Amino acid sequence: MTVTMTDSAFLQACRGTRPDRTPVWFMRQAGRSLPEYLALREGTAMLESCFRTDMVVEITMQPVRRYGVDAAIFFSDIVVPLKAIGVDLDIVPGVGPVVADPIRSANQLSQFRDIEPDDVTPITDAVTALVGELGTTPLIGFAGAPFTLASYLVEGGPSRDHRLTKQLMYSEPDLWHALLGRMAAIAGQFLRLQVEAGASAIQLFDSWAGTLSLADYETYVKPHSAAVLDSVADLDVPRIHFGVGTGELLHAMGDAGADVVGVDWRVPMDEAVRRVGPGRALQGNLDPTTLFAPTEFVHARAAEIIDAGRSAEGHVFNLGHGVLPATDPDALARLVDFVHGYEPAAS
Ligand code: CP3
Repeated sequence: MTVTMTDSAFLQACRGTRPDRTPVWFMRQAGRSLPEYLALREGTAMLESCFRTDMVVEITMQPVRRYGVDAAIFFSDIVVPLKAIGVDLDIVPGVGPVVADPIRSANQLSQFRDIEPDDVTPITDAVTALVGELGTTPLIGFAGAPFTLASYLVEGGPSRDHRLTKQLMYSEPDLWHALLGRMAAIAGQFLRLQVEAGASAIQLFDSWAGTLSLADYETYVKPHSAAVLDSVADLDVPRIHFGVGTGELLHAMGDAGADVVGVDWRVPMDEAVRRVGPGRALQGNLDPTTLFAPTEFVHARAAEIIDAGRSAEGHVFNLGHGVLPATDPDALARLVDFVHGYEPAAS
């Protein structure tokens, strides 16, 4: 029998069925902790590397080769589609995205034009090349969600309290919704281009949505994230929706139109399953700092998560947020082997 992409444990779990082993991949598995990544990136700026087809392909493949994970995450960044349409921004090492002219007024929105396929040719070429190299391992395309993108654009860079973002949201709701509407269009177009080039699933990263109350999330953010997820609904690929510190938002993030809800480590997996409710798979949720503990401890925590994930309609094992740069790649390799070999307790 030929093994096809749809047999992949990752895609099965995303669709709510139970593959014969728990699929696992890691957010931010590409880059950061891998010595082969650091060697390749030497002398090339982050954003420049995202527009170099050869580097994107190689960096995306590195963790797949090393760990045997069940999915590849495309090497890029949430600000890449903005860079592609000419927004003046950079990624500063150790800091993150930094925007030259933070958004304060409506007349700044004209720069957020639609993405044309020509804007992202090196990226779609990399997707196509990767699909060939990956064989039956699915490729996950991704985009930043409207709120998280807007938070960088309004703050001008990373922020702890998102003060300026919320100030704009509360005091100028029309401008806020216009900005998020543009981010939703751009994120949706970027996801569509990746899927049309061959990506098998997408993840919408709303990393910083956890800074919002449920009521504010529902009013100011969810309609825009729902628009992004809806804009790729016809493409028939699983849609994963993830944020950090989103325990109070889990149901709403599923309701926005996700097939899979990503959870961080603050909510136990069985409780997250209850909060998300029926009809969706879950992804998560080992605390990335656990990987600095002894192996037996890491694996005991992983076993608890897999056992708790049995109550979900589908479960994709992952960390609760990205791999930390100081993580020992061997600890991740051991974790993949453990997850693949673990026989969950009979339920
Ligand atoms: O597995 C992967 O690494 C896939 C590629 C990927 C990157 N960024 C590469 C990257 C993905 C999926 C992202 C998403 C991303 N980028 C998010 C959402 C995910 C999350 O972690 O919450 C966010 C919020 C960003 C914005 C961003 N870009 C941050 C916060 C940083 C880190 C800054 C730092 O150096 O601490 C970046 C830079 C970045 N993106 C790096 C990589 C590999 C590091 C760049 C470098 O090596 O100089």
